[in-house]
Amino acid sequence: MTFSLRLLVFYTLFHSIYAQCDDNGVIYASGDKWIRNNHFLVTCRGGKIQTLKCVTDSGHLLDVGSKTYVEQGYEYTCAHEVAENLNTNSCPTFADFSDDIFKDRFAICCISRRFKGCVDVNGDIVKDGYFIIGNQSLKYCRIQPNQLMARIEPKGCFNGTTNDDIHDESRHIKKYAVWREGDIEYRCGDDGVHIQRCFPKELKNKPIWAGTAWIQDDGQVKTCGKIH
Ligand SMILES: *[C@@H]1O[C@H](CO)[C@@H](O)[C@H](O)[C@H]1NC(C)=O
Ligand SMILES: *[C@@H]1O[C@H](CO)[C@@H](O)[C@H](O)[C@H]1NC(C)=O
Repeated sequence: MTFSLRLLVFYTLFHSIYAQCDDNGVIYASGDKWIRNNHFLVTCRGGKIQTLKCVTDSGHLLDVGSKTYVEQGYEYTCAHEVAENLNTNSCPTFADFSDDIFKDRFAICCISRRFKGCVDVNGDIVKDGYFIIGNQSLKYCRIQPNQLMARIEPKGCFNGTTNDDIHDESRHIKKYAVWREGDIEYRCGDDGVHIQRCFPKELKNKPIWAGTAWIQDDGQVKTCGKIH
């Protein structure tokens, strides 16, 4: 049994004439970093408090937008509360890699103020090329030479795990392809691989659409596909 702990990242605006931040009476200079509300590593940028990472109870740092992280029975997610306006001009003068900005699945380097890559299912940054997000959904991260524009292109699905070579084209599946493995039929849709139909032996291999549940003669309850 795991509990869900959603750490929502928020951006607080302060109307300050100076570039410093006032956090409940404590003044921080631009570029200072501190832990706020026990769970957020924040910094002061142009008078605004900005969250850099989430912090778990044991002190593990999570990137904003990274996949969930389980620790002592708690499943942590670190996500933006609202879509905020990101601006590379708010990057500190002496930025380092902890200042990277994340927007959706794009990673922006605060040192160069340019795109640096796309974020995969593991929360790792892929500089250029194929990467996987959830449900084996295959994407291609394309960053223009000037690094001011980036695009995530849909490439169908990847029929493998993170241990397999992502460039192995025999594992690339075209979007909307349907195939069968044993008594399960899969489909590569807009958001990755999903079970489409089942052909359960107990039901004499009659096709059953995903999302169906049934009670067998012996009383066992079965479902086709993962029902959300
Ligand atoms: C994986 O599939 C589920 C169910 O269709 C969907 O809600 C989720 O957004 C998908 N994940 C990704 C990363 O596309
Ligand atoms: C995916 O991989 C499985 C197991 O290697 C194979 O049986 C199946 O045909 C593959 N599907 C496609 C569409 O290539």
